[in-house]
Amino acid sequence: MQIRNWDDYQNNYQKSVEDPEKFWGEIADQFIWKKPYKKVLDWDFETPSIKWFEGGSLNITENCLDRHVKTHPNKKAIIWEPNDPNDDGLTWTYQELYNEVCSFANVLKKHGVVKGDRVCLYMPMVPQLAVAVLACARIGAVHSVVFAGFSAQSLADRIDDAKCKLIVTTDGAFRGQKEIPIKGIVDEAVSKCDCVEKIIVFKRTEQYVSMTAQRDVWWHEEMENASTDCPAEEMESEDMLFILYTSGSTGKPKGVVHTCGGYMVYSHYSFTNVFQYEADDIYWCTADIGWITGHSYIVYGPLLAGATTLMFEGIPTWPDAGRFWAICDKYKVNQFYTAPTAIRSLMSKGLEPVARYSLNSLKVIGSVGEPINEEAWRWYNTYIGKNKCPIVDTWWQTETGGIMISPIPNVTDIRPTYATYPLPGIQPILLDKDGNEIKENNVEGLLCIKFPWPSIVRTLYGDHERLKQTYFSTFKGYYFTGDGAKRDTQGRYRIIGRVDDVINVSGHRMGTAEVENAINEHPWVVESAVVGYPHDIKGQGIYAYIIPDRHIESEQAFIDEVNETVRKEIGPIAKPDIIQVVSGLPKTRSGKIMRRILRKIASGDISTLGDTSTLLNPDIVEEIIEKSPMIKK
Ligand code: PRX
Repeated sequence: MQIRNWDDYQNNYQKSVEDPEKFWGEIADQFIWKKPYKKVLDWDFETPSIKWFEGGSLNITENCLDRHVKTHPNKKAIIWEPNDPNDDGLTWTYQELYNEVCSFANVLKKHGVVKGDRVCLYMPMVPQLAVAVLACARIGAVHSVVFAGFSAQSLADRIDDAKCKLIVTTDGAFRGQKEIPIKGIVDEAVSKCDCVEKIIVFKRTEQYVSMTAQRDVWWHEEMENASTDCPAEEMESEDMLFILYTSGSTGKPKGVVHTCGGYMVYSHYSFTNVFQYEADDIYWCTADIGWITGHSYIVYGPLLAGATTLMFEGIPTWPDAGRFWAICDKYKVNQFYTAPTAIRSLMSKGLEPVARYSLNSLKVIGSVGEPINEEAWRWYNTYIGKNKCPIVDTWWQTETGGIMISPIPNVTDIRPTYATYPLPGIQPILLDKDGNEIKENNVEGLLCIKFPWPSIVRTLYGDHERLKQTYFSTFKGYYFTGDGAKRDTQGRYRIIGRVDDVINVSGHRMGTAEVENAINEHPWVVESAVVGYPHDIKGQGIYAYIIPDRHIESEQAFIDEVNETVRKEIGPIAKPDIIQVVSGLPKTRSGKIMRRILRKIASGDISTLGDTSTLLNPDIVEEIIEKSPMIKK
């Protein structure tokens, strides 16, 4: 169902609120179901228990592949652009992708993977990652993709939490000029887990890797004789499709669970509407499949729509800062979807790398992952969209599975830096801190959703109670997003950012507690406190205050060591941008760290620190301000 104009939007929105079951039922009927569903929706936000399309059974890959193979087998499904522009890329038609997926599904089966088993995918952006995702779905195995920038320890935690019995990985990865030893990281992770029985390794870089007999096998050898015939496993609508770990406000990442039927319906519906995809368009999302954006808008959404989706292995700044634009021109990309941090980083390189390219194939450009600041929005609009491409500033979360609030190009209006209106089917509301609904416009509040949508998170793997506590207990009867938002006089939303102890670094969610736990692994650290602060490129940077247990001779050497500890515990993305060694942290009399004060200092603003005299240790504030690199003296 594609919404084409404003009346259409309004009618659909109204229908979706008045009769959600009819609204979603009609959309769901456009898919192939092995068995029709009996009930569109059954829900309560108390337990919470949310079930979509119960009684129905399906396989998402039949909807991504088989039905398109029937109608347009030779249409390009995936275009892959390698890290090095001088290397050969790759294109798979729907027929070819189908063959790859079925073959690899048979490989998984041969190695004992059955419906319900968890399979960890730890791979860089090679097209085989998309194949592995779909192959799992084909046989009903639950994929848990772990972003290949996470450290061995983080990977081990995720493998262990989901008890994955098989891992699919690569020998190495190319990222710009770097070559990363992926298999070595997997080996280290696996040495910390008991559950892994097999590792399948795709050869990408040809670097030497050690292969453990009986346990490790090569992708290319396994695929040689694998049959392309693999019937799609029949899945109940509410069977698990995948787990994706994301950070929360406690130290332990949460395994967000999405299920087959609802996720299929919503990822397709949101993709076609937000990008206004037309049959021959080339669509490109620059995210990594290791994040939800890659799941929903590189793999599932586009393939469900029978689209051509581009996958890029490299980074925006290599060989130079024109790489994104070179790719747009090379493949005549029509829809381009990226993150504000990438826009800001490219903006800082000046206009020369942009001016070399025409970019005239672009029709819609998008932004996701964090609030986009006005300057970046205007630059994107002027130099990339050339004032003719609607910018879709899409707000959503790992837990929502798909885009929730976003302009619909040429249908709803655009306001710079605003995600604007909810898609039909989505019912956002703003609450004040006491949980009262703010009904007027031109207000600010806590963003909640009051009615389920098909791709809402169903549970946190192994911890349903945490799901309830995190999202459904702060405000009874509502899904709480953890974000604050404004609503303008026209009812359009602008997302301000997180209101919990989660920071958003370059569009990646990071729990402050998680980073603190990593820092505290350094043997000299007594205590640490991590806060976010405004960062020109990353949106938010990580600022860590650390108390060591001894006199530090060389602060820089200590800081380097702490950084290395964080890299090992989580990965390079979690390394603090600023580390300040302190002798104490401001605390309340009950011993709680006053993060508000630390956040103010980190943002360089000490004009509104408030009354610090009631602190347990008021003098420490002066000391911290004195030594903070953010405070101009
Ligand atoms: O704070 C919001 C921010 O990213 C958070 C979700 O992060 P994650 O689950 O990693 O998913 C990122 C990709 C969907 C949200 O709670 N966020 C996401 N999109 C936007 C945004 N903030 C402002 N504007 C957006 N368009």
